[in-house]
Amino acid sequence: MDLDCKEASQRLAEGQVVALPTETVYGLAADASNLEAVRQVFALKGRPLDHPLIVHLAEASWAGRWAHLPEAFEGLARRFWPGPLTLVLPRRRGVDDLITGGQDTVALRVPRHPMTLEVLQLLGRAVVAPSANQFGHTSPTCAEHVRQEFGADFPVLDGGPCQVGVESTILDLSGARPRVLRPGQLSRQELEGAGMVGLDGAGESCGPVGSGVCVGGEEVGAALPRVPGSLERHYAPRTATHFDRHGVAVQGRWGWLGFSSRSEAARQILMPADPEGYGRSLYAALRQLDREGLELILVEPPPQSPEWEAIWDRLRRACQS
Ligand code: TXA
Ligand code: MG
Repeated sequence: MDLDCKEASQRLAEGQVVALPTETVYGLAADASNLEAVRQVFALKGRPLDHPLIVHLAEASWAGRWAHLPEAFEGLARRFWPGPLTLVLPRRRGVDDLITGGQDTVALRVPRHPMTLEVLQLLGRAVVAPSANQFGHTSPTCAEHVRQEFGADFPVLDGGPCQVGVESTILDLSGARPRVLRPGQLSRQELEGAGMVGLDGAGESCGPVGSGVCVGGEEVGAALPRVPGSLERHYAPRTATHFDRHGVAVQGRWGWLGFSSRSEAARQILMPADPEGYGRSLYAALRQLDREGLELILVEPPPQSPEWEAIWDRLRRACQS
């Protein structure tokens, strides 16, 4: 069911859950000040209750209601919001454990999609919005993907295909040093350029699992609970998916996600050679291949350079090896 901005904001005000477009991926939104509505988001996604949610704001001026704002906040917000950056900040008293996963921090972001910003302004309050997929599935980058996840009747504000296509960069400002918890299109280099000196986890993580090239999920390891990277198979297609590392010959009906053609594949999707273009089409391509009834999906490894870090991160989670 397609909504317009007014209908979406009315439903949110009534405590209903609706899917909203953002520049990264579609989100499953609920009024962040209505805990009954927030609980429905967990139930719909099948998401464990200790996984914290991102609070989405219409503008940076709303942030002070949710978090204590460190010195670096203003500059980052001015430069990158609205945009694909989530900031993890010390939470204010009164922000519920259901939203923070019981942690003393809260994640905030101002998404860059005019329709969702309009909904937030009409509502006059923040919404929580995890990616609008069942827990562990590939994130949706268009309204049709949301319907594949939650059914044709699910209320969606259709804002077209997502411009970025991979989830926001998560930057933790709550510790002694800033730390990237999840890489995204907004890169470490850009954050460093904006004055984030001493950024933790600064080694780029570009390479397949076990390649020894610096495995990226690591930076969200034991010390930092409840970030998406701690789950190996997050963002995973249901079809067995592997990196094509040695050009091994495979049998049966297999699919190919790569840069150059592999004519032996039963189905192939050729990807853009630039990381922005690749990111924009990645989840749609994985979903497409996942629906072809293939026995195997092979993925051509992308270049091992910093601009590809977010892509590597998502591909590692999609691939079993
Ligand atoms: O691009 C995005 O961020 C999308 C769109 C819809 O805005 N949202 C998204 O939400 O990716 P979700 O829930 O699928 O992933 C957000 C991740 C969670 O898995 C959670 O682990 C992490 O953000 N997170 C939230 N609050 C946190 C906190 N206080 N500390 C550390 N990590 C946190
Ligand atoms: Mg998600």
